[in-house]
Amino acid sequence: MSETNKQAILDIIRRVNSERELAPLLVLLAREIKALLRADLVSVFLFDRETCELYSFVSLDNQKICFDARLGIAGAAALQGETINVTDAYEHPLFYKEVDSRTGYRTKTILAVPIKNLHEQVIGVCEGVNKLDGPFTKDDAEILEAFAAHAGNAIETALFVDALKKERETNEPKGKLQQNIEIGQARLRHIVGMSPQIQAIVRLIDQIRESSVDVLIEGESGTGKELVASALHYNSPRSNQPFVALNCAALPDNLVEAELYGIEKGVATGVDKRTGKFEAANGGTLFLDEIGDLSLMAQAKMLRVLQQRAVDRVGGQRPIPIDVRVIAATNKNLEQAIKDRTFREDLYYRLKVIRIHTPSLREIAGDIPLLANHFLAHHCSLARLPVKEFAPAAIERLRHYSWPGNARQLENEVKRLVASVRGKTIGEEQLDLPVEPTRASAQEETLSYGKTIDEVVEAIERRMIADALEKYHWNKQKAAQELGLSRQGLLKKLKRLAITR
Ligand SMILES: Nc1ncnc2c1ncn2[C@@H]1O[C@H](COP(=O)(O)OP(=O)(O)OP(=O)(O)O)[C@@H](O)[C@H]1O
Ligand SMILES: [Mg+2]
Repeated sequence: MSETNKQAILDIIRRVNSERELAPLLVLLAREIKALLRADLVSVFLFDRETCELYSFVSLDNQKICFDARLGIAGAAALQGETINVTDAYEHPLFYKEVDSRTGYRTKTILAVPIKNLHEQVIGVCEGVNKLDGPFTKDDAEILEAFAAHAGNAIETALFVDALKKERETNEPKGKLQQNIEIGQARLRHIVGMSPQIQAIVRLIDQIRESSVDVLIEGESGTGKELVASALHYNSPRSNQPFVALNCAALPDNLVEAELYGIEKGVATGVDKRTGKFEAANGGTLFLDEIGDLSLMAQAKMLRVLQQRAVDRVGGQRPIPIDVRVIAATNKNLEQAIKDRTFREDLYYRLKVIRIHTPSLREIAGDIPLLANHFLAHHCSLARLPVKEFAPAAIERLRHYSWPGNARQLENEVKRLVASVRGKTIGEEQLDLPVEPTRASAQEETLSYGKTIDEVVEAIERRMIADALEKYHWNKQKAAQELGLSRQGLLKKLKRLAITR
């Protein structure tokens, strides 16, 4: 770096260090970097690891702007903790074109550098867009990195001052309900992951946020189907209307009509008026979970409502129009179910206007460290414990386990660790994961020529269930937990696979 540049940076740092207010500090930083880099636009964002969001302040009225860190280059720099220098935005896989098409701006080059604190944790990102002459150089990257290293301290101080002030302002502690709502919503909206599969889901949710199209979510158990469904709802024009979930697997045939349509007053003595799920969700979203478990009779009724967008209450006089967005989810292969004649083809086509596949953890193993740390931070904060961390060997072990119960199973394991580990660091030996047969021997046992995928999957399921049951002496609750299944889910599998003691 040239002497003039070093001098310029020192000069700015001096000014920056005397600004203790967060919003003006970020604005000041952006303005100085802009001059230094000769870039058209410069932003300084703060990074919230738990919610996976970047945020900043609009200079005029201190308004907070906030966006998802999975959308675009600045977020990638934060999540990966590394500088990203993009010479042609439209050719870069992580660039998010949607922002340009919304603002009409044309992004060409980007330089994004993570801002770290003294513990090397990423607390923000500074980003320059469209250098005035040519792409950003290696020199520019070095300058911005040097600058970010100093800015980190100034920002930490300002964040600390900000937190103290807020604490003083809120002398009334929040009610428990309010807290729950905040935690609930923060959790719902945050789908963690940097893999292309998760990124594609987050982008799709963002792209269709203005519309209310129906969506079908397909994925193994525990892969975040409900999380995606609620994210779709809370990122839609219906977000302040109800989100109503209906578990189709727990819907006996004789209650289908009452559950879906509701019951009119005075149908029979002893029967109360009841609001059906479609009506309850009116204006909002109805989440039809486990749609693959609906009986054929119930499917016919469901299809009728979806086509007519009106419900007939039991004992009612005329159909009541409803405006409901339907999001359905299943862990079954519906195309196979159609072949087996257990699922109606017309209903399937009606539901799958847009399809989302939630990937298993095996497909996105690279996201396991990120997810594990996310769950760890979340559950420590729920339990009001100081944040713990994983030892590198523990992360390695988590990464290589096969997670039949996917993210839910990983979250359960982390919850158990938060409750049981005293120290700050969680070591490999504290994990409770079954030893899996090495890949080669599993293959020998289960993969032989002439077997279908279903047979192989069944053999693996059988083996894992038997191992878990044996380990817990047939305590089904514990075995189910280890497998990442509900007790009910395990019972179903035992029946299907005809496993008995
Ligand atoms: N990508 C993700 N980021 C953050 N949390 C996740 C992610 N995927 C799953 N989870 C968490 O894992 C748990 C299970 O997710 P969810 O209940 O949405 O799965 P599901 O597919 O509906 O499971 P099931 O088929 O068993 O009903 C939830 O606590 C959810 O918040
Ligand atoms: Mg679910």
